Amino acid sequence: MDGVAAKCRSWLALRWLVVAAVLITAWMTVATSGSHFSFTRSREIIHEPCVSDLGGSKPIEEHCLSQDTRRRLAASLTKIQRLMSGGQSGSDEVGRWSREVGRVVAELDPRLARENLRPPTLVCSDHHNGTKFLVNNCKGVPRLAQVVSVVVPARGWQPSRVSQVLHGLAAHHNLTTILILADDDPTPDTNGMTLVQRYDHAVSDGKALNDAIALVNTSFVLVATSLAHYSWLHSPLERLVRVLDRLGGEGVAGGSYRDEQGQWRHGCLQRSITNYHATFLRGYQHSILECMYCDEVLGPFLASTHLLQQHPFPDEVSGPALYREWHTKVTQAGYLTLACPDVMFFLQEEPIMNTADWNTYATRMSIQTIHSYDGKEYKFKCSDVHIKCDDLRKTITWYLIPLCCREAIMHGITILDDFAREKGLLYEMSHGSLLGAVKLGTYLPWDFDQDIYYDCKDRRIWETINEFLKARNTGCHLRVSNDRKLLVLQCTTFFVDMPCRKPLSSHTLPAVYRNVTTWIDYGGRRVSVMANPGSAARDQAGPDNLRHAQHWRVPGHPDPGAWRPCQNPTDQACLDHHPADGSLAFTSPPMCLP
Ligand SMILES: *[C@@H]1O[C@H](CO)[C@@H](O)[C@H](O)[C@H]1NC(C)=O
Ligand SMILES: *[C@@H]1O[C@H](CO)[C@@H](O)[C@H](O)[C@H]1NC(C)=O
Ligand SMILES: *[C@@H]1O[C@H](CO)[C@@H](O)[C@H](O)[C@H]1NC(C)=O
Ligand SMILES: *[C@@H]1O[C@H](CO)[C@@H](O)[C@H](O)[C@H]1NC(C)=O
Repeated sequence: MDGVAAKCRSWLALRWLVVAAVLITAWMTVATSGSHFSFTRSREIIHEPCVSDLGGSKPIEEHCLSQDTRRRLAASLTKIQRLMSGGQSGSDEVGRWSREVGRVVAELDPRLARENLRPPTLVCSDHHNGTKFLVNNCKGVPRLAQVVSVVVPARGWQPSRVSQVLHGLAAHHNLTTILILADDDPTPDTNGMTLVQRYDHAVSDGKALNDAIALVNTSFVLVATSLAHYSWLHSPLERLVRVLDRLGGEGVAGGSYRDEQGQWRHGCLQRSITNYHATFLRGYQHSILECMYCDEVLGPFLASTHLLQQHPFPDEVSGPALYREWHTKVTQAGYLTLACPDVMFFLQEEPIMNTADWNTYATRMSIQTIHSYDGKEYKFKCSDVHIKCDDLRKTITWYLIPLCCREAIMHGITILDDFAREKGLLYEMSHGSLLGAVKLGTYLPWDFDQDIYYDCKDRRIWETINEFLKARNTGCHLRVSNDRKLLVLQCTTFFVDMPCRKPLSSHTLPAVYRNVTTWIDYGGRRVSVMANPGSAARDQAGPDNLRHAQHWRVPGHPDPGAWRPCQNPTDQACLDHHPADGSLAFTSPPMCLP
């Protein structure tokens, strides 16, 4: 459980603390008075109606909890459960409550529901004899060759590497091996069980893998990416089969690896994608059968063939981005991924994602910034990842506005601020923009315009801004609203509404301070705001203004503190994956409390 803090996603920290407190209180009540407390209530509070139903009852009017949130809650509850069973073993009462907590945990994070492992059916079970793990003798299991096939994506590999891997694999078990080569790769010496599939370099790695997997007749496939060598002693595939088999047969299991310099690593990564930012961390939070639960694994992995056929590799992608995307999709679909560190593969080098690989991943997942597992940071422009900012008003029905579009919109204020400084004009940011400045210190990523007040006496001067705009190539121009009341700075993908006020609110400041308008750091810019920004934002936005609400133009938007359910729930930019209160989750990169 010590890894919980490491996974940085605690925007609903308060919420899970409340739930944990409810449970602790309930447990203490039970422990001291033996009274009966129903956990059904807490279960309703934390239940996610969009994913499953509550014993067939009607869905609860609660917006969905994100997977990250559910996992945090589950981790917290598991901790409580372990404390309960650790402290008072033997008490029936505690045992019952502990099982009840276990059921809540299982609902929140199915990975933790796996204490009832099924007996192995495809390979013999193993046991620890006090010194080491030994495989039991058993009857009735099929030959490993009937259970596992191997796909070796070896296009462009040195012939010696290819033979080394094939030779190692052939040393035991006679597995069917599908070898993917390019047209111009030499044919290695192969035994009867190797099937060579050749693909032109123009065919993507993803397509070649999918074609190879279509030929597989066994329940599991080892996708032998990056291998340099194969040793049955160090990479016993039966162990990975046993783990997946005991967990129900569907899933992904990888191992650790050693590169040619001798460096060893477990390949377990945790992943978080939110607010156009992806974080990949090495590490794990939960384990089972001496294997780590992961969001993805680096290096070779065993997967059920059914899963690989239901969720094929992306057909258009080559290189390591292919595996990042596949693992992302597979975990989003609810499959389990494990890394068993005792199964060590020999690789040339750890699978590396370079800038181009991350760019591919970012484009396909609509992500702009990435914190990679090697600690490097990547930042992509809208054009790099094919994000367009042209229909923001539609975007905000369900999604956060992309970072680069926010940046463009913020630039509108910079332009106005530059002009105001040049001409010595005062202005005050108001309404949605002011609310963003107060709450997030930046543009609200669920808004699609900006608002400022200027002093009505300066209208003539503001009306001369077009020359300034043209000279700076801003792509913006000033127009007058139909009723002639409002000036509007119209730019390509957004606009700034500019009503005037007479006088500006700074006149309410104490006389000695009136010569300086109140300003806020607005995404790194110094921007003038109304004299008392918190009070103005409260009056303008109304009750619960610190909770987030969708734009009033979005049809069917809920009251502050909730988002509309998302149109495409796997999209990382869904508003309803984000808290509807608080600011930390909306910083870039998103932050959280430890
Ligand atoms: C466990 O098995 C190994 C190998 O068979 C043996 O060397 C060892 O003594 C056994 N340990 C115990 C405690 O029986
Ligand atoms: C491997 O299987 C093939 C086909 O079933 C068979 O021809 C070959 O003799 C087997 N080799 C070994 C070493 O068992
Ligand atoms: C799987 O079975 C089919 C039909 O029996 C056969 O044509 C194919 O070659 C087999 N695939 C492999 C990889 O052995
Ligand atoms: C504003 O006025 C105060 C008091 O008159 C003065 O001390 C201060 O320097 C002025 N600030 C600016 C930025 O002019």
